[in-house]
Amino acid sequence: MEKKIMALGSRRPSIDNQFHADGWIVLHHGDTMDLIATLPSDSIKLIITSPPYNLGKEYETRVRLRSYLETQADVIKELMRVLNDGGSICWQVGNYVEDGEVYPLDIYYYDIFKDHGLHLRNRIIWHFGHGLHSSKRLSGRYETILWFTKSDKYTFNLDAVRVPSKYPGKRHYKGPNKGKPSGNPKGKNPSDVWQIVADEWVAAFWEIPNVKSNHPEKTIHPCQFPVELVERCVIALTDPSDWVFDPYAGVGTSLIAAIKHDRRAIGAEKEDKYIDVARERIERLLDGTIKLRPMGKPVHKPSGREKVVQVPREWLTGEVVNDT
Ligand SMILES: C[S@@+](CC[C@H](N)C(=O)[O-])C[C@H]1O[C@@H](n2cnc3c(N)ncnc32)[C@H](O)[C@@H]1O
Repeated sequence: MEKKIMALGSRRPSIDNQFHADGWIVLHHGDTMDLIATLPSDSIKLIITSPPYNLGKEYETRVRLRSYLETQADVIKELMRVLNDGGSICWQVGNYVEDGEVYPLDIYYYDIFKDHGLHLRNRIIWHFGHGLHSSKRLSGRYETILWFTKSDKYTFNLDAVRVPSKYPGKRHYKGPNKGKPSGNPKGKNPSDVWQIVADEWVAAFWEIPNVKSNHPEKTIHPCQFPVELVERCVIALTDPSDWVFDPYAGVGTSLIAAIKHDRRAIGAEKEDKYIDVARERIERLLDGTIKLRPMGKPVHKPSGREKVVQVPREWLTGEVVNDT
């Protein structure tokens, strides 16, 4: 079933390579700086991205940390021009690792954004349950999103991202509202730690599952982020028809989240193979055939009967078992 964009009625939006003020979707194949140079000042409501981390992935050449940050600072300087006054920037990063030492990238990026006078509203922790197991340090299970605004007058639609309250039946126990419900009937603030209730022992957290095999959204991209992660930022920080820009679009995750919620979407991606996948995913979204993990769906909870959650027999008995 075709995805209808309310503001466009029955008109299916085209996917353009360049920005037009009356356009809806721009997927630029090329360098991000070339695209940014064509964008009008103050035009973008939300810039959201996961930039290259300088980890030597297939799409990047590893350089010294200082040189990487200088390049990124040049891009951010240009992004400041296009971000509108009520706008936000969400910069999602993890760690850069050199000779076994961890460099938390958000700490380095913080000063770059502050040099442009931005205001930090949240440092969101994106916690995920799976990943590589480290042997010389604790295994990393979170990355961060720095959410900055350009001014104090920024869009923040809290009601759009409220989540069910854990104790909706709680009541004020003293004061003028004694006996009345103390929570908000629309749900509670989702907090700055993003997970999904998986089990009782992690019930205090909300999780957005990392995009790995078995996930309905998985593509060929090695560092794709989940649509749901962007959706929360899109609906909280923009209004319908606003422009959402991902300067490092990869396979188009941010664009999909934006279009899905009737926002205009722009992205730049330099690699042919990711552009092809991004285009195909956007087409499938417009056709209504894309498979996305529903927003807020709890992470799969094992029943305890699955073989993979049972302690191996040989750990209990010491016998040799070859159970293939
Ligand atoms: C961490 S990935 C982003 C993945 C994206 N969030 C997604 O879900 O697909 C960074 C992307 O930036 C692209 N990239 C790196 N430098 C670029 C540049 N100068 N211009 C355009 N794209 C670039 C890389 O090819 C890579 O796909």
